[in-house]
Amino acid sequence: MHLHHVLLDGQHDGRQLRDALGRFPTGVTVITTRAPDGKLEGLTANSFAALSLDPPLVSWSINRRSPSMTGFQQSGHFAINVLSAAQSALSHRFATPQSNKFEGVGFELGLGGSPLLDGVLARFECQTQDTVEGGDHLLFVGRVHKISYGQGEPLIFSSGRYCTALPMRGVSAQADLNGVWAGLG
Ligand SMILES: Cc1cc2nc3c(=O)[nH]c(=O)nc-3n(C[C@H](O)[C@H](O)[C@H](O)COP(=O)(O)O)c2cc1C
Repeated sequence: MHLHHVLLDGQHDGRQLRDALGRFPTGVTVITTRAPDGKLEGLTANSFAALSLDPPLVSWSINRRSPSMTGFQQSGHFAINVLSAAQSALSHRFATPQSNKFEGVGFELGLGGSPLLDGVLARFECQTQDTVEGGDHLLFVGRVHKISYGQGEPLIFSSGRYCTALPMRGVSAQADLNGVWAGLG
Protein backbone atom coordinates (compact mmCIF):
# COMPACT_ATOMS: atom_id res chain seq x y z
CA MET A 1 0.00 0.00 0.00
CA HIS A 2 1.27 3.49 -0.83
CA LEU A 3 1.62 5.69 2.29
CA HIS A 4 1.94 9.48 2.60
CA HIS A 5 4.75 10.53 4.97
CA VAL A 6 4.31 13.82 6.84
CA LEU A 7 6.65 15.28 9.49
CA LEU A 8 4.69 17.07 12.22
CA ASP A 9 7.15 19.96 12.42
CA GLY A 10 4.67 22.82 12.79
CA GLN A 11 4.68 23.53 9.03
CA HIS A 12 2.25 20.70 8.25
CA ASP A 13 -1.40 20.99 7.27
CA GLY A 14 -3.56 20.08 10.30
CA ARG A 15 -5.92 18.31 7.93
CA GLN A 16 -3.29 15.63 7.31
CA LEU A 17 -3.13 14.60 10.99
CA ARG A 18 -6.93 14.42 11.05
CA ASP A 19 -6.89 12.31 7.87
CA ALA A 20 -4.33 9.89 9.34
CA LEU A 21 -6.28 9.59 12.62
CA GLY A 22 -9.43 8.98 10.58
CA ARG A 23 -7.86 5.77 9.17
CA PHE A 24 -8.52 4.27 12.61
CA PRO A 25 -12.24 3.38 12.65
CA THR A 26 -14.16 3.81 15.89
CA GLY A 27 -17.62 3.36 17.29
CA VAL A 28 -19.67 6.46 18.10
CA THR A 29 -20.90 7.48 21.55
CA VAL A 30 -22.94 10.30 23.01
CA ILE A 31 -21.49 11.21 26.40
CA THR A 32 -23.90 12.93 28.78
CA THR A 33 -23.99 14.55 32.19
CA ARG A 34 -26.10 16.77 34.41
CA ALA A 35 -24.24 19.89 35.52
CA PRO A 36 -24.65 21.09 39.14
CA ASP A 37 -27.08 23.82 37.93
CA GLY A 38 -29.31 21.06 36.48
CA LYS A 39 -28.42 21.69 32.81
CA LEU A 40 -28.18 18.49 30.77
CA GLU A 41 -25.09 18.28 28.53
CA GLY A 42 -24.25 15.80 25.81
CA LEU A 43 -21.75 15.53 22.98
CA THR A 44 -20.93 13.04 20.26
CA ALA A 45 -17.51 11.51 20.94
CA ASN A 46 -15.38 8.83 19.32
CA SER A 47 -12.49 9.26 21.78
CA PHE A 48 -14.13 6.75 24.14
CA ALA A 49 -11.82 3.83 25.01
CA ALA A 50 -11.59 0.88 27.36
CA LEU A 51 -8.84 1.58 29.90
CA SER A 52 -8.92 -1.10 32.64
CA LEU A 53 -10.97 -4.21 33.41
CA ASP A 54 -10.16 -4.46 37.14
CA PRO A 55 -10.92 -1.88 38.36
CA PRO A 56 -13.37 -1.07 35.52
CA LEU A 57 -12.16 2.20 33.98
CA VAL A 58 -12.89 3.96 30.71
CA SER A 59 -11.54 7.18 29.18
CA TRP A 60 -12.56 9.86 26.68
CA SER A 61 -11.48 13.39 25.87
CA ILE A 62 -13.22 16.68 25.22
CA ASN A 63 -12.04 19.68 23.22
CA ARG A 64 -11.24 22.52 25.65
CA ARG A 65 -13.26 24.89 23.46
CA SER A 66 -16.46 22.84 23.90
CA PRO A 67 -19.12 24.82 25.77
CA SER A 68 -20.12 21.65 27.66
CA MET A 69 -16.63 21.05 29.14
CA THR A 70 -17.28 23.00 32.35
CA GLY A 71 -20.47 21.05 33.04
CA PHE A 72 -18.58 17.75 32.69
CA GLN A 73 -15.76 19.02 34.95
CA GLN A 74 -18.16 20.13 37.68
CA SER A 75 -20.61 17.23 37.58
CA GLY A 76 -18.49 14.31 38.82
CA HIS A 77 -20.52 11.80 36.79
CA PHE A 78 -21.07 10.95 33.14
CA ALA A 79 -22.77 8.30 31.02
CA ILE A 80 -21.37 6.78 27.82
CA ASN A 81 -24.16 5.94 25.33
CA VAL A 82 -22.89 3.66 22.52
CA LEU A 83 -24.92 4.40 19.37
CA SER A 84 -26.49 1.77 17.12
CA ALA A 85 -26.26 1.85 13.32
CA ALA A 86 -29.76 3.41 13.21
CA GLN A 87 -28.68 6.46 15.25
CA SER A 88 -26.55 8.54 12.86
CA ALA A 89 -29.10 11.41 13.11
CA LEU A 90 -28.65 11.41 16.91
CA SER A 91 -24.87 11.51 16.41
CA HIS A 92 -25.26 14.55 14.14
CA ARG A 93 -27.58 16.28 16.63
CA PHE A 94 -25.16 15.89 19.54
CA ALA A 95 -22.21 17.01 17.41
CA THR A 96 -23.96 20.30 16.58
CA PRO A 97 -23.82 23.11 19.17
CA GLN A 98 -27.32 24.15 20.28
CA SER A 99 -28.96 25.18 23.55
CA ASN A 100 -31.12 22.12 24.16
CA LYS A 101 -29.84 19.04 22.33
CA PHE A 102 -32.22 16.84 24.35
CA GLU A 103 -35.48 18.35 23.04
CA GLY A 104 -37.54 15.52 21.50
CA VAL A 105 -34.95 12.88 22.46
CA GLY A 106 -36.08 9.90 24.59
CA PHE A 107 -34.02 9.38 27.74
CA GLU A 108 -34.13 8.60 31.45
CA LEU A 109 -31.78 9.80 34.18
CA GLY A 110 -29.09 7.46 35.48
CA LEU A 111 -26.28 7.62 38.05
CA GLY A 112 -25.68 11.23 39.16
CA GLY A 113 -28.50 12.41 36.87
CA SER A 114 -26.64 11.65 33.62
CA PRO A 115 -29.09 11.16 30.71
CA LEU A 116 -29.35 7.58 29.39
CA LEU A 117 -30.51 7.71 25.76
CA ASP A 118 -33.15 5.35 24.35
CA GLY A 119 -32.27 2.87 21.59
CA VAL A 120 -28.54 2.61 22.27
CA LEU A 121 -26.44 -0.56 22.05
CA ALA A 122 -24.70 -0.17 25.42
CA ARG A 123 -24.34 2.25 28.31
CA PHE A 124 -21.62 2.80 30.88
CA GLU A 125 -22.62 4.85 33.95
CA CYS A 126 -19.51 6.38 35.47
CA GLN A 127 -18.13 8.52 38.24
CA THR A 128 -15.27 10.82 37.21
CA GLN A 129 -12.10 9.40 38.77
CA ASP A 130 -9.57 11.75 37.21
CA THR A 131 -9.03 14.40 34.56
CA VAL A 132 -5.72 14.78 32.72
CA GLU A 133 -4.63 17.72 30.57
CA GLY A 134 -3.93 16.56 27.05
CA GLY A 135 -2.97 19.48 24.81
CA ASP A 136 -6.12 21.05 23.36
CA HIS A 137 -8.26 18.31 24.97
CA LEU A 138 -9.08 17.33 28.56
CA LEU A 139 -9.02 13.56 29.20
CA PHE A 140 -11.62 12.08 31.55
CA VAL A 141 -11.05 8.78 33.35
CA GLY A 142 -14.26 7.24 34.65
CA ARG A 143 -14.91 4.48 37.18
CA VAL A 144 -17.73 2.39 35.68
CA HIS A 145 -20.48 1.62 38.22
CA LYS A 146 -23.21 0.18 36.00
CA ILE A 147 -23.28 -1.33 32.50
CA SER A 148 -26.25 -2.11 30.24
CA TYR A 149 -25.92 -3.74 26.81
CA GLY A 150 -27.95 -5.49 24.12
CA GLN A 151 -27.64 -7.06 20.67
CA GLY A 152 -27.47 -4.97 17.51
CA GLU A 153 -25.38 -3.26 14.87
CA PRO A 154 -22.99 -0.52 16.03
CA LEU A 155 -22.58 2.84 14.29
CA ILE A 156 -19.01 3.11 12.94
CA PHE A 157 -17.07 6.31 12.14
CA SER A 158 -14.24 5.87 9.62
CA SER A 159 -12.39 8.47 7.50
CA GLY A 160 -15.02 11.08 8.36
CA ARG A 161 -17.98 8.92 7.30
CA TYR A 162 -20.64 6.92 9.11
CA CYS A 163 -20.42 3.21 8.28
CA THR A 164 -21.71 -0.16 9.44
CA ALA A 165 -19.49 -3.13 10.34
CA LEU A 166 -19.46 -6.35 8.32
CA PRO A 167 -18.40 -9.47 10.26
CA MET A 168 -15.61 -11.46 8.54
CA ARG A 169 -16.38 -15.02 7.55
CA GLY A 170 -14.19 -17.91 8.63
CA VAL A 171 -12.29 -16.03 11.36
CA SER A 172 -12.65 -17.29 14.90
CA ALA A 173 -13.88 -14.31 16.91
CA GLN A 174 -13.35 -16.06 20.23
CA ALA A 175 -9.65 -16.62 19.61
CA ASP A 176 -9.26 -13.03 18.44
CA LEU A 177 -11.00 -11.61 21.50
CA ASN A 178 -8.86 -13.70 23.82
CA GLY A 179 -5.82 -12.20 22.18
CA VAL A 180 -7.13 -8.66 22.51
CA TRP A 181 -8.08 -8.97 26.17
CA ALA A 182 -4.87 -10.79 27.06
CA GLY A 183 -3.22 -7.48 26.25
CA LEU A 184 -5.34 -5.69 28.86
CA GLY A 185 -4.95 -8.29 31.58
C1 LIG B 1 -18.08 11.17 15.04
C2 LIG B 1 -17.71 12.35 15.91
C3 LIG B 1 -16.85 12.17 16.98
C4 LIG B 1 -16.50 13.24 17.82
N1 LIG B 1 -15.67 13.01 18.88
C5 LIG B 1 -15.38 14.03 19.74
C6 LIG B 1 -14.58 13.78 20.90
O1 LIG B 1 -14.15 12.66 21.17
N2 LIG B 1 -14.30 14.85 21.72
C7 LIG B 1 -14.78 16.12 21.46
O2 LIG B 1 -14.50 17.04 22.24
N3 LIG B 1 -15.55 16.37 20.37
C8 LIG B 1 -15.88 15.35 19.52
N4 LIG B 1 -16.69 15.59 18.44
C9 LIG B 1 -17.21 16.96 18.23
C10 LIG B 1 -18.33 17.30 19.25
O3 LIG B 1 -19.38 16.35 19.18
C11 LIG B 1 -18.90 18.70 18.94
O4 LIG B 1 -17.86 19.66 19.00
C12 LIG B 1 -20.02 19.09 19.94
O5 LIG B 1 -20.68 20.24 19.44
C13 LIG B 1 -19.51 19.42 21.34
O6 LIG B 1 -20.63 19.63 22.19
P1 LIG B 1 -20.89 21.08 22.86
O7 LIG B 1 -20.84 22.09 21.74
O8 LIG B 1 -22.29 20.95 23.46
O9 LIG B 1 -19.85 21.28 23.91
C14 LIG B 1 -17.04 14.53 17.59
C15 LIG B 1 -17.91 14.72 16.49
C16 LIG B 1 -18.25 13.63 15.68
C17 LIG B 1 -19.21 13.84 14.53
